[in-house]
Amino acid sequence: MDIFEKRLSNLGPLGIHADATDGYFMFPKLEGEIGSRMKFRGKECLIWSLNNYLGLANHPEVRQVDAEAAARWGLAAPMGARMMSGQTVYHEQLERELAAFVYKESAYLLNFGYQGMVSIIDQMVDRNDVIVYDSDAHACIIDGMRLHIGKRFVYPHNNMEKLRVQLERASKLTQQTGGGILVITEGVYGMSGNLGNLKEIVELKKEFDFRLLVDDAHGFGTMGPNGRGSHENMNVVDGVDLYFATFAKAMASIGAFVAGNADIIKYLRFTLRSQIYAKSLPMPFVIGALKRLDMIRSRPEFREKLWTIVHALQKGLREDGFNIGTTQSPVTPVLFNGDIPEATQLTYDLRENYSIFCSIVTYPVVPKGVLMLRLIPTAAHTLDDVTYTIKAFKEISVKLASGKYNTHVMADISK
Ligand SMILES: Cc1ncc(COP(=O)(O)O)c(C=O)c1O
Repeated sequence: MDIFEKRLSNLGPLGIHADATDGYFMFPKLEGEIGSRMKFRGKECLIWSLNNYLGLANHPEVRQVDAEAAARWGLAAPMGARMMSGQTVYHEQLERELAAFVYKESAYLLNFGYQGMVSIIDQMVDRNDVIVYDSDAHACIIDGMRLHIGKRFVYPHNNMEKLRVQLERASKLTQQTGGGILVITEGVYGMSGNLGNLKEIVELKKEFDFRLLVDDAHGFGTMGPNGRGSHENMNVVDGVDLYFATFAKAMASIGAFVAGNADIIKYLRFTLRSQIYAKSLPMPFVIGALKRLDMIRSRPEFREKLWTIVHALQKGLREDGFNIGTTQSPVTPVLFNGDIPEATQLTYDLRENYSIFCSIVTYPVVPKGVLMLRLIPTAAHTLDDVTYTIKAFKEISVKLASGKYNTHVMADISK
């Protein structure tokens, strides 16, 4: 069979809705300066869908440093992979500062979080080792594990009893194989806003021999008394052996890093395929990251503002009876019952008639029959934005309950 024909006969759970969603619910174009107000299809909307947690994306000081770095170095420098010809003092400085910030000895830059995580997992285990991981793990963790030819045991999301069972199994197995155990969790789960149970996981180290890798994409810059991450928040900085975060969220950029003790980071520097066989992170991203890190470190007001908005939004939604799950982080899911056509009608109403833009999440990311609107509060929002949004949500939830969106057809996005 022709390989294209075969693929096109099954577009996948998202692809089957492509024609009814493309350009509106999927691949929407947000235009204008990044912030709480952007244009969607020519109309200004209140935006709740960007991981620009600290509002740094469009901060004038950040923009100036980014622009100056691009003017000075262009996008090419440095050329080549770090190991061959792409090393600079700025890359090294950023790694030193990141390591210190997350309380680790050493750090290594990654060009992208996704690829970096895949490569870290690939490099940290061999066929005799066992990975034990949370069932809600991000795609980059799942895809990293696809490269693993040894065993992997999953535990239901944050279920510590089941984690223990899997650690027992893993320990038995590694005693036979002579391998080790790598536990992988996230600091903050980006869909539910749940925190990984880092404290309890680290406690299990007293009974089992394992190393802990934490993907803290959403926790870096937002969690902990100094915004240093989920491990600071839970007071387990030493229990996390490998700390990973991306620049794509609070840092509002591109790039990522992994941090740990000096020996293991040295090992990764000399083995990590995503970095050895790829061009070095371009200089404007490195200089831009140094600036952003400095702002996160020295200007707590961004984080304080973020949390003011988070608390107001989550408290207001809860008080009005909305189901926002069990979030303990800025990520704010609002859960409704409904099918996919209903979800599109509701979201269409929200965007067209209330000028509110947030992400809509449906099956297969959430169970069938559940629809989730995901709000990402940021330091760029105001308390008025929160009040307006909660009022609008009350109205749409009344319409949803009355069956107004229950048309069984997808919203007409051609208008
Ligand atoms: C939990 C988590 N890990 C990793 C990534 C990937 O990071 P990047 O965007 O830098 O590839 C993301 C998304 O950005 C994420 O949410």
